[in-house]
Amino acid sequence: NNAGALKGVHALVTAGPTREPLDPVRFLSNHSSGRQGYAIADALIKLGASVTLVSGPVALTPPAGADFVPVETARQMLKACEEALPADVFISVAAVADWRPARAATKKLKIKGAGSEHPAMELIENPDILKTIAHKRKNRPDLVIGFAAETHDVEEHAEAKLARKNCDWIVANDVSGDVMGGAENEIVLIMRDRSERWPRMGKEDVARQLATRIAVTLGDGGAG
Ligand code: C5P
Repeated sequence: NNAGALKGVHALVTAGPTREPLDPVRFLSNHSSGRQGYAIADALIKLGASVTLVSGPVALTPPAGADFVPVETARQMLKACEEALPADVFISVAAVADWRPARAATKKLKIKGAGSEHPAMELIENPDILKTIAHKRKNRPDLVIGFAAETHDVEEHAEAKLARKNCDWIVANDVSGDVMGGAENEIVLIMRDRSERWPRMGKEDVARQLATRIAVTLGDGGAG
């Protein structure tokens, strides 16, 4: 029984999609359900961690005991994460929109009828929350874990991501199938010096096993 394994540990978790407004009634977003991130927050709480869960809009109830911070945009999510530091571990599960509309109109956009020129939407890059937190000089969490949803060359892309974003671990998964929004996940856990392929299992089981690994690693005093 390792129920108290994360006692005294502050974990910061992001989950869900972000919404990037185009006008007051429209936004850009993605299919993230928040399920994996919420399951991780719950598993960490069950091991005794104090958890700040920063979440985009999802249809889930936050786990009991979480310090819950609802946000919509990537910029709000970054701000909420920075305000939640210091943390011992940061787990970036959110499917942050990489791009947002350059301008959010204050009035509902009117699209002209057929025959007029087709409207163009200018996009600009969002801040990379994981990269920003992982590169902090002061207040970098001891263990920074990113997720990488890929549709091909999963491990290769994930290893590059680990280095680029200065993560300690990357949880890589293949989203070419039914993983996004689904109940199960099949992951490769990529650490700096090795990687492990886990069998396909429920997202709650992935969460529990990951939480246990986090407890062992923080207990050993390093990101292994
Ligand atoms: O580059 P990519 O979007 O595939 O990276 C995925 C990882 O980076 C996830 O852990 C996600 O939460 C994080 N991310 C982020 N901010 C972004 C884009 C991705 O924190 N703007």
